[in-house]
Amino acid sequence: MAKRCLITGITGQDGSYLAEWMLAKGYQVYGLVRRSSTLNFARIEHIQDRLTLLPGDLLDPASLIDAVKTAAPEEVYNLAAQSFVQTSWNQPVLTGEFTALGVTRLLEAVRLAAPEARFYQASSSEMFGKVKETPQTEETPFHPRSPYGVAKVYGHYITLNYRESYDLFACSGILFNHESPRRGLEFVTRKITDAAARIKLGLADELRLGNLDSQRDWGFAGDYVKAMWLMLQQATPDDFVVGTGRTTTVRYFVEQSFAALGMDLEWTGEGLREVGREQATGRAVVRIDERYFRPAEVNLLLSDPTKAKVGLGWTPEVSLEQLIEMMVRADLERLSPGSCGGPTE
Ligand code: NAP
Ligand code: GDD
Repeated sequence: MAKRCLITGITGQDGSYLAEWMLAKGYQVYGLVRRSSTLNFARIEHIQDRLTLLPGDLLDPASLIDAVKTAAPEEVYNLAAQSFVQTSWNQPVLTGEFTALGVTRLLEAVRLAAPEARFYQASSSEMFGKVKETPQTEETPFHPRSPYGVAKVYGHYITLNYRESYDLFACSGILFNHESPRRGLEFVTRKITDAAARIKLGLADELRLGNLDSQRDWGFAGDYVKAMWLMLQQATPDDFVVGTGRTTTVRYFVEQSFAALGMDLEWTGEGLREVGREQATGRAVVRIDERYFRPAEVNLLLSDPTKAKVGLGWTPEVSLEQLIEMMVRADLERLSPGSCGGPTE
């Protein structure tokens, strides 16, 4: 009989890749979806007939218990969260409800309705925040810099606590930034590749960004969901850092994105960069905008993924340059005349 898994956040970037991976592995895949006035299934449309979608919300314990009972899963992946760091300053309480207490609500549902199930928690490198050491490992102390980061630290420790208190097979993956053509448009990588494609096509002439100096360890989401699955296949539950071991600036990501579309970058002075189009039909500007700076920044993230490499046999397959190429090409294709468009690849 096919193994069963339940994925929260299945409509999100990671949820969609994980669902594809689990289907390919032969699992019966259940996904938790919350009610909204407009359907938001673009990322899973292509596999929707192979999924069983269950209604529920991280705010509502009864809905979580129902979903766990119905799915009767061997594996539960908790990917649902308010995941955008910037929003967490505007909605700190909501972020805490979803991203912190939501984990406890789901752990309780698992403890009550499927205590034998293996549980994966989507922890984050944002927990390292104002980093205490570089590179960051499973042993690096946390110093979160946003309400989102603080909420993830709670989620991380409550997962560990349920492992220790109830002997649940509960693991946290401390994942560094991972991106794809399915990344939300509000995150910096997708904002850049979408803008580069628009500028290339003459649909926009400006990209406004905040801190270009911040450094991230960016990988491909499709690689990272495999690490989630691998964690739940081990003999004992444990926590793992997942990243590429390479860090680059937002500025580098901008440069590579425009270069991938054959557009030259031209420096014009502090805080302002101009992008020359391949055919000079106008001027496209990358402009620094105060609105995109954060009250407290995470300046540098760099993983040491040795434990995942040795313990899980996991290595990322897509390089940063390949990722950028993949993202700009997908945005160009989506926005080109004759394409059916849509918010994702
Ligand atoms: P995402 O694209 O923003 O997806 C978030 C998912 O959570 C969506 O399916 C969303 O549903 C769902 N959700 C939000 N609030 C919910 C609620 N109250 N009840 C039920 N579902 C809810 O995020 P992602 O990039 O795939 O990330 C997946 C997880 O990994 C998140 O927990 C994120 O914090 C964490 N993480 C991500 C990264 C990264 O670089 N991507 C790195 C480390 C950790 P709707 O579609 O209805 O909005
Ligand atoms: N979003 C955004 N928009 N970020 C910008 C911009 C902009 O216009 N300009 C500069 N940045 C900088 C941010 O200040 C930050 O330093 C960096 O780009 C990355 O921002 P995001 O792409 O929004 O991602 P994040 O690193 O804050 O958070 C992501 O990664 C975490 C893992 O470290 C999210 O996916 C989190 O959910 C995840 O936990």
